Amino acid sequence: MTSPSPSPSEFSASPSEFTAPPPGCPAHGSGKSVPLYGPEFAADPHAFYEYLRQFGPAAPVELSPGVEASLVTDYAAALHVLQNPETFVRDARRWRALNAGEVPLDSAIVPMMLYRPNALYSDGAEHMRHRQAVTETFARIDTHRVSRHVDRVADYLINQFSGRGRVDLIADYAQLVPLLVFNELFGCPADLGDQLVFSISCLMDGIEADKAMESLVETLMELIILKRAQPGDDVTSWLIQHQSRLTDEELISEIMTLIGGGAEPTQNLIGNALRLLLSDEKYSGGQHGASLLVEDAINDVLWNNPPIANWSGHYPLYDVDLSGTKLTAGDPVLISFAAANSDPSLSTSRQTLSKRAHLAWGAGPHACPAKDPALLISILTIEKLLNRVPDVELSVPVESLTWRPGPLHRALTALPARFTPVRRENPANTRFPADARSAPISSTSEQQQRRQKGTFWSGFLSWWKG
Ligand code: HEM
Repeated sequence: MTSPSPSPSEFSASPSEFTAPPPGCPAHGSGKSVPLYGPEFAADPHAFYEYLRQFGPAAPVELSPGVEASLVTDYAAALHVLQNPETFVRDARRWRALNAGEVPLDSAIVPMMLYRPNALYSDGAEHMRHRQAVTETFARIDTHRVSRHVDRVADYLINQFSGRGRVDLIADYAQLVPLLVFNELFGCPADLGDQLVFSISCLMDGIEADKAMESLVETLMELIILKRAQPGDDVTSWLIQHQSRLTDEELISEIMTLIGGGAEPTQNLIGNALRLLLSDEKYSGGQHGASLLVEDAINDVLWNNPPIANWSGHYPLYDVDLSGTKLTAGDPVLISFAAANSDPSLSTSRQTLSKRAHLAWGAGPHACPAKDPALLISILTIEKLLNRVPDVELSVPVESLTWRPGPLHRALTALPARFTPVRRENPANTRFPADARSAPISSTSEQQQRRQKGTFWSGFLSWWKG
């Protein structure tokens, strides 16, 4: 498609001369920004990206009602923004509309964009200090330990459903493995681990988000107090001991990004790759070895359905002309990793010849520091499932699967599957967490499910200890 390269004055005007907007796009002909939070966007984000490209390298979007931003959809422009921290900073305290009181503070997305004292939202020397604490702490993680824990956690979870012959691979598997593995890596005892899983599940589902956030902060504070008193061989203790001397507030904020911000995309990578593996003939009917197929599916997802589709809030320090698109100082500029990866200016052979050129891990000084452990956890989680229940298949047509609404993630709502019921491994040791069995009858099944997840860590620990 040829881009009409609109002049800056056309930027907020209705692009009526452009090709038709995607079906259901409420911005059609209204002259407003294109909303990315509705079910239409979740159903077909690539149709939206295609439409947005016509504005030039960045387009006006609405992240939630009343929260406006520019979204960079062009690959080269995305790299330019990500790699120029002198012009594009991360500190949201520069957000002009927020400071002018124009942003609805009760909007679901605003808490995700507000400044926090951690690596993601800081710049320059402060960023270096936080980033060093994270990367040097992560360098101490033993990959054999990660593998062992993925193996045990995945076994435990598969034991919960292997006798049933059916499973929702998102709720019962992909969502839980990373969280439970992180609980171990961060040295969470049973009660705090349960509370973490429960709060993060509520936050991800947007259920009582204020209370869930409060509970998450309290739990992390308790974990930090515990680890200051009794340091262990874990990420929390290593972060506390790091020479960056992070304060308690910084530690809470850093660990929140690591556990919450790390688990969600890892779950989505596992879920999106499982969808491909169970539905696309390229993967389900191939002749290669299993690990090659899993890695290929993961690479496919990172290019075409990256778990973090749009993110990376930047604030230009001054007005910028981004290849013809005007960006105003202090107005948020987000990167569409998904749109940049599918930029038509990239040749299709680039995807196969250069596996790592996608932007799913970000780029520049804030690029994901946990790419390797995230990949390892994802690959092992998928391999374990395919080995334990080899005839697993989707129990609904792939076209009927739905995606969670929201401008930032690419995440399935559910992935129902079936398989021949198999005997549990270590059946004598497999127990359902006691609290899950005794969840109040009056609660809805969703609440029950969440409560059940909130006991998985203690359930796993007691199973593991026998
Ligand atoms: C499939 C899984 C993951 C994906 C796709 C992913 C993707 C990303 C992306 C795109 C960024 C750049 C954000 C930006 O530019 O603002 C990022 C940053 C970051 N990621 Fe990941 N991530 C994943 C897993 C993890 C995990 C498991 C952790 C930690 C446990 C983690 C920790 C971080 C941190 C701390 C940053 C901020 C670094 C900085 O600002 O210097 N990520 N990640």
